[in-house]
Amino acid sequence: MKACLIAFLYMCLLIKCGRVKRVIGGTAVECGKQPDVASLRNSSNLKHLCGATVISPRFALTAAHCVTSKADEYVLKLNNVCVKDHDIAPSATILEIIINQSYDPVTRAHDIAILRFAVLDDITWLKHTLPRSSFGLSGECAVYGYGYRDVRTKETSEILLAGTLRIISLDECERRLGPFVTPKYDHGMLCATGDGIDACQGDSGSPLICAGGTVEGISSYGMSCAVPGIPGVYTSVGFHLEWIRKVIKDEWN
Ligand SMILES: *[C@@H]1O[C@H](CO)[C@@H](O)[C@H](O)[C@H]1NC(C)=O
Ligand SMILES: *[C@@H]1O[C@H](CO)[C@@H](O)[C@H](O)[C@H]1NC(C)=O
Repeated sequence: MKACLIAFLYMCLLIKCGRVKRVIGGTAVECGKQPDVASLRNSSNLKHLCGATVISPRFALTAAHCVTSKADEYVLKLNNVCVKDHDIAPSATILEIIINQSYDPVTRAHDIAILRFAVLDDITWLKHTLPRSSFGLSGECAVYGYGYRDVRTKETSEILLAGTLRIISLDECERRLGPFVTPKYDHGMLCATGDGIDACQGDSGSPLICAGGTVEGISSYGMSCAVPGIPGVYTSVGFHLEWIRKVIKDEWN
């Protein structure tokens, strides 16, 4: 009972924390370098809510906890696509939200959702970015995100930021985060850590992109932002590959 309460308080802390809303310690990404990383926005006031990654001409990945309303309340804005001087970045209307039904809002297990959007006019920049398998994932990656430039004004960054991270094992993650917060092996999640670099709450849904340009993780939660030695938790794309392929019906990846 007591352990249960502690676990609950811990989870509350973890989901509410991370108020600083940008890739901490990140650097600006030139337009066109990662055009598939989109900003998921409120369709009525265009406020930035979360990150998302375009994985095919009609589908994007984000975190399940990012999409709690109806599809028409969201729009994807592709701010890293290069545009001419005063043109605005392309955007796409969301037509359908497919949340993995194993998603658990309390533990954040399987924090993954697929967005079906209206076809974009020009997607010549789109590459195949889903991993081939979930096997043998390790090493250096980068977390990408659009965040608020200022926590108080909640002004969004129009520019994509990136920071280098390293994937660590769930055992190492547990040593650093403790047993209540570390995802279980069957939760389909992974941990990554960096030197003064981290994703924060506004970067939820943003991708962790690894060697070869594959999207291996989706930013889900953290205990704090960029505290040395404290890893962030990401949904494993490799773990959910079969489900993703089934939903997008192998049309592209
Ligand atoms: C979008 O903004 C409107 C008006 O500010 C608000 O009522 C609505 O709940 C927001 N929707 C989402 C998905 O954030
Ligand atoms: C959720 O994801 C898991 C792991 O990828 C998959 O096995 C399962 O079919 C998915 N569940 C639903 C109902 O979407």
